[in-house]
Amino acid sequence: MATTPPIMEQAPDRPILILGIETSCDETAAAVVRLDGGSPEVLGEVISSQFDEHKAFGGVVPEIAARAHADMCDNVVRETLDRAGVTLDQIDGFAATSGPGLIGGVMVGMMTAKALAMATDKPFIGVNHLEGHALSPRLGEPVEFPYLLLLVSGGHCQFLSVEGLGQYKRLGSTIDDAVGEAFDKTAKVLGLGFPGGPAVERYAKTGNENAIKLPKPLLDRPGLDMSFAGLKTAVLREAQNMELTEQALSDISASFQKTICEILTEKSRRAMRLAREELGFEGEPGFVIAGGVGANTALRNALKTLCEEEAFSFHAPPLKWCTDNGAMIAYAGAMRFKAGQASSLDLAARPRWPLDEAAAEANPVFGGGKRGAKA
Ligand code: KG4
Ligand code: ZN
Repeated sequence: MATTPPIMEQAPDRPILILGIETSCDETAAAVVRLDGGSPEVLGEVISSQFDEHKAFGGVVPEIAARAHADMCDNVVRETLDRAGVTLDQIDGFAATSGPGLIGGVMVGMMTAKALAMATDKPFIGVNHLEGHALSPRLGEPVEFPYLLLLVSGGHCQFLSVEGLGQYKRLGSTIDDAVGEAFDKTAKVLGLGFPGGPAVERYAKTGNENAIKLPKPLLDRPGLDMSFAGLKTAVLREAQNMELTEQALSDISASFQKTICEILTEKSRRAMRLAREELGFEGEPGFVIAGGVGANTALRNALKTLCEEEAFSFHAPPLKWCTDNGAMIAYAGAMRFKAGQASSLDLAARPRWPLDEAAAEANPVFGGGKRGAKA
């Protein structure tokens, strides 16, 4: 991926404090992270969700999101500093998600971070949102590079080999909808509410997971690419053909969730074997699930069992750092800062910004989420 221009000959040899801002979708979030060479410490954070604003529409409306970020961002930053117990002049650098994501929201976060950087004469660091997710497991525990990452959220679904800061190899991705999008669309079809993932998970708890047979697109083909668009259509067809009692909603939810778990488990198994056979992963390497769908307990459990079978160690960020948050952006910014990197104040927002740009160019994927192709 493109590296940001180095601005410091050497990053200061002392603990640093970075404020990170996240506004790429429907969460206005910020955090102050302290990085002292080793593990990061989150000193304070705020995550303000816009569920109520988007609820009536059954999905995130970009214009409403941008306006809500603009209304909230200053307050979220102020509250974050208060919770962290630090003042603006103690912050060493200001990071913000610079893409991929909904452009209006991304611009709000970037403008706020740039303004703070200018006012305090400190560096601004533009962060790739996906890099935030990719590094997020290290917020909770030390996870050594390289590790295998399954990034599953509302806008992306991909396998990556995470080899170090800025070193990501895409191994496979969805060719159409992101998996979180499949959860959201299923919930919408069933009228379960928004956001869809947690609603489907809630209904699935009391459902029969074998009630309905759903397709598993691309599972019969080799490789790590995935497809989820057909699932939504299949759910819609099933829903139209039955009386949607509470039990039926639970049964469809449970069957849908089980199908997703089976697809992701089988693809993860392949990814693990490929990592060992072709990427030089040895011993008991790390397997990480990150992104909003990583909050799903059934999926976590299925992948935990898989890790035992394939001798990988299982890692997942705590739930609050699975979905979008400021801590992962502050941490990615802090790592870049420590590496002597920062961004120019005229850095533009990037609605699309793949982590592995070479793979994205060589083998573009289509679709890929409610925010357009991001993988
Ligand atoms: O990472 P995230 O907060 O935002 C993006 O970067 O996209 O992920 C949001 C996605 C939504 O599609 C939401 O429905 C899904 O994550 N999600 C879940 C769960 N919690 C959130 N999906 C399944 N089960 C959950 N418990
Ligand atoms: Zn995200």
